[in-house]
Amino acid sequence: MTTVNVAVLGASGWMGRVHTMAYQSFQHFFGTGQGTARVTALVEANPEAAKDLAFRAPGARIEQGWRKVVTDPEIDLIDICLPDNLHYEVAKAALLAGKHVYCEKPLADTAAQARELADIAREKGVITRVGHAFPRNPAHDRAKELIDSGALGEITMFKGCQHIDIYADPMAPYMWRADGDLAPTGIVGDTGSHVFSFMEFLVGRVSELIAENFVVTKQRPKIDGLGYGDSASDAEVTEWGQVSNPDGTHLMCRFENGARGIVDFSRTATGRKFQQSYEIYGTKGGLIYDYDQVNRLRFYAMEDAQGRQGFRDIDVGPENATFAAFLPLPNFALGYNEMKIIEVAEVIKSITSGQPMWPTFESGHHIAQMVDACMESSQKRAWVTL
Ligand SMILES: NC(=O)c1ccc[n+]([C@@H]2O[C@H](COP(=O)([O-])OP(=O)(O)OC[C@H]3O[C@@H](n4cnc5c(N)ncnc54)[C@H](O)[C@@H]3O)[C@@H](O)[C@H]2O)c1
Repeated sequence: MTTVNVAVLGASGWMGRVHTMAYQSFQHFFGTGQGTARVTALVEANPEAAKDLAFRAPGARIEQGWRKVVTDPEIDLIDICLPDNLHYEVAKAALLAGKHVYCEKPLADTAAQARELADIAREKGVITRVGHAFPRNPAHDRAKELIDSGALGEITMFKGCQHIDIYADPMAPYMWRADGDLAPTGIVGDTGSHVFSFMEFLVGRVSELIAENFVVTKQRPKIDGLGYGDSASDAEVTEWGQVSNPDGTHLMCRFENGARGIVDFSRTATGRKFQQSYEIYGTKGGLIYDYDQVNRLRFYAMEDAQGRQGFRDIDVGPENATFAAFLPLPNFALGYNEMKIIEVAEVIKSITSGQPMWPTFESGHHIAQMVDACMESSQKRAWVTL
């Protein structure tokens, strides 16, 4: 059995904790036949946040800086769970050191950076992966099977969205996500990239788009210790942070295969704690997905008999091998953390088998091209060809 030695960077953050858990969990569901993983190093810059790391991955060494770790001969896989602006620099250093790299989305700040990373990875012959976990929900494998089987006919339209409300409250605190230096593309790279990953997985590549990015609240209270879900009171604010990247985007696009798309995403959709949905229409059928029913697809087939036509619910269950690895019965539901466990299992399998699995850094580049195009289109107020 091959053991992959992993370093998780940004270990105390949300993704750092989820990934660290997933390396230690995936064997329980998928077995060790495809190899296993050992969390060898945890890197976390914030010493306060790092206090309980030793408990999370017993035996792992704990570091504050990433530079020494990415060249450490003991480490096989560098897992980047750092803020967006560090992805390119850290991934490049790790690839140049010949490491396999698994990087949280967005892969890089620009498509040019993403292209460079994909090229270095190809030259080095290493495995890469971008952390777009959502499409790894087995429901989307079923959607892809339906599309690839021709059940929808020729795809004519994709409609997709992803909305949250972390910044709906004007007094929600300033975080790195609102800082154009730390997250240059804002919601476009943060959330738009997830919708773009569904588009690439299910429909194909986009050839052109027109987008409008917008900022809803121009400044936010800067208060240490406040984060997701918090709201500052007027009395406690002494400093304001300027929101220097987009809060939301509306876009229209055309796919290479001729389909049209309408997409929107934002972090200011009041009341939408997490909305993610797509509708795909073709010449023979339609398909609808909504994260509120996370393992369910709704499928309409034009060939159904007159009087019996209508969207039918398809609950993905243990007939799907990935679902069955977790649960023996349908409708018990796989959630976000399971999607990350599936993703981590695939990363390890890719490394031990030498077979890259979607979405590699090549896909990360395609998605970064869409992010770039949104930024350019919104600035020029014009269609942009990818
Ligand atoms: N795939 C998904 O569904 C998903 C969900 C959330 C976040 N993300 C992505 O994951 C990444 C991390 O997001 P998060 O929500 O976990 O953020 P976070 O702020 O919770 O965590 C980031 C961690 O990195 C640490 N850190 C910052 N600079 C560092 C440095 N130089 N060296 C070492 N540690 C450093 C911070 O102290 C923090 O603990 C982002 O790129 C984000 O876009 C992806």
